[in-house]
Amino acid sequence: MTTASAPGKVILIGEHAVVYGRPALAVPVSDLRARVRVEEGSETGVRLRAAQIDFDAWLHEMDEGHPLRRAVDLTLEALQLDSPPSLELEVDSDLPIAAGLGSGAAVTIAIMRGLGAHYGRELPPSEQSTLAFEVEKLHHGTPSGIDNTVIAYGQPVSLIRGADPRLLQLGAPFCLVLGDTGESSPTARAVAGVRQRREQDPKRYEALFDEIADLAIQAREALQEGQIDRLGPLLDRNQSCLEQLGVSTERLEKLIDAARAGGALGAKLSGAGLGGIMLALVEPSRSADVAAALRSAGAAGVYETEVRP
Ligand code: PMV
Repeated sequence: MTTASAPGKVILIGEHAVVYGRPALAVPVSDLRARVRVEEGSETGVRLRAAQIDFDAWLHEMDEGHPLRRAVDLTLEALQLDSPPSLELEVDSDLPIAAGLGSGAAVTIAIMRGLGAHYGRELPPSEQSTLAFEVEKLHHGTPSGIDNTVIAYGQPVSLIRGADPRLLQLGAPFCLVLGDTGESSPTARAVAGVRQRREQDPKRYEALFDEIADLAIQAREALQEGQIDRLGPLLDRNQSCLEQLGVSTERLEKLIDAARAGGALGAKLSGAGLGGIMLALVEPSRSADVAAALRSAGAAGVYETEVRP
């Protein structure tokens, strides 16, 4: 039996603007992971189970466009096996689905790593990322590629769509508290909404994307120099841009306000918005207070995590 895992992720700065060629920063969430267990099966074929979502199916009976099937098919193709596989795969995950934490890409990459380990041939991060990007396209048509990149490399990244990712060396660790609204975040709908509004007012939207790009560049420098205090106000300003893009909600803002009142250095929604999670940057000594403030404000899930160099 082999096991493997992959972390979740959060976008620190730059969601939505990244779809329009601006840089975005994302970091892995190592404490929340998707895991896979791979065992040799007793009959030919691949059986996939995910007890948490009541899922149990043979690969060949699944729709070819099913993300789990695609993840397995692409990996087995890349591994170039000599004989048809006979496998049992069991997937489980700490990551809430459709919350902005990269659950889909984490499961895909955990599967790739599990199969790679089972056959004694780990695919390199760049190949994991490229293959996972193919699966990401099934979740929403035009992904920027940020989820597959940060999760495959397991390191903070600065990404410009279509360009090679820039891996970041953090100058210092920092702590985040994540609050889940409990409302699922419809990435495709949020992205389509921004596209539609941008078509009606391109000048205003391009200016907002430029402002976000400027925040991402400043945040990248602050992270690399380990000046975590500088990051807080940049997160707050990014939230204001996201509100103007029309992807924030009352529930997100209630959690963001609660985190700020609880002592966060800065807070914003993270991911596509219209639901999903928010993140708060905190001093380690304030993490528990901010987590408590989020719970009192009705967060459906609260996660404290440290991002390490
Ligand atoms: O909520 P997520 O993790 O799917 O993030 C979406 C981020 C967007 O910038 C809105 C879309 C993208 O493809 O980058």
